[in-house]
Amino acid sequence: MSTPPHRWIAVAAFALFLAFPPTFAIYCDEDDCYDLLGVSQSANSSEIKKAYYKLSLKYHPDKNPDPESRKLFVKVANAYEILKDETTREQYDYAIAHPEEVFYNTARYYRAYYGHKTDTRAVLVGLLIVISAFQYLNQWTRYTQAISMVKKTPAYKNKLKALELERKGGVGNKKKGQKQSDKNIEEGLDKELELQIKGAEKPSFWGLLAVQFLLLPYTLSKLLLWKGAWFWRYQVKKAPYSWDDACYLTQRSLRVAPDAWGNIDESTKEDLVQRHLWEKPNMDNYVADMRKEWKRRR
Ligand SMILES: *[C@@H]1O[C@H](CO)[C@@H](O)[C@H](O)[C@H]1NC(C)=O
Repeated sequence: MSTPPHRWIAVAAFALFLAFPPTFAIYCDEDDCYDLLGVSQSANSSEIKKAYYKLSLKYHPDKNPDPESRKLFVKVANAYEILKDETTREQYDYAIAHPEEVFYNTARYYRAYYGHKTDTRAVLVGLLIVISAFQYLNQWTRYTQAISMVKKTPAYKNKLKALELERKGGVGNKKKGQKQSDKNIEEGLDKELELQIKGAEKPSFWGLLAVQFLLLPYTLSKLLLWKGAWFWRYQVKKAPYSWDDACYLTQRSLRVAPDAWGNIDESTKEDLVQRHLWEKPNMDNYVADMRKEWKRRR
């Protein structure tokens, strides 16, 4: 039996937890930011700056290799980060005046933190990864569900039986040959399975949002090149449409999906392409013909 989807969700959540561990320390943790810099709460910005430069020199890891001063160096830098900015300083002052509003203060701290201390690109990448993970999970779930449904149908069971009988009938003397045919049967069945599962394709790496996003420059330049070549060939040079391009235009005017087009037989395709349906009068004629045909048959 395959892994149930909720287990995958748990795994994904755990991975996210590892990637972005929750931290509940806000501002200067258990310390007072002003105390760390050795200034009063009414100190002005130049006093704060001066105090910070003095302390950062004093605790600089180049001068003090001991871990205690390294810790202090980080703490002082963090306190300065908070107090040098008008907005975060105000929020900090509010937080120490209203220690009971823990949730409000925490929310404000994180909003300020993610607002201008985190690269929005990093946030975007994180978001893309999370969405892609869920996209994959979703595709995978749909695919396995579709497969198990197909495997329950009588048609599938009958085919399996028929293939097994065929295998038994064809038992040869050579064991190697036997193994080979086993493999062929499995592959054949798998192929058939995939044919029957429309709308629930195997999860594809290339279809994931994050991958698509990474490929965007490539996709866009390919599209631009294609458009440019098209324009040059058919608008400027007025060349006749190539077979493939005529097929493409026909598909588009008929709103036929590419794989559906692939299933149409060659002579019908040829007939459709010859009608030049991408030109409006031809399309109108074609629709009128179809209507007449429809009425005649009824
Ligand atoms: C900050 O305070 C110091 C000492 O009180 C004072 O000398 C300085 O002019 C003040 N700076 C500003 C920008 O207000």
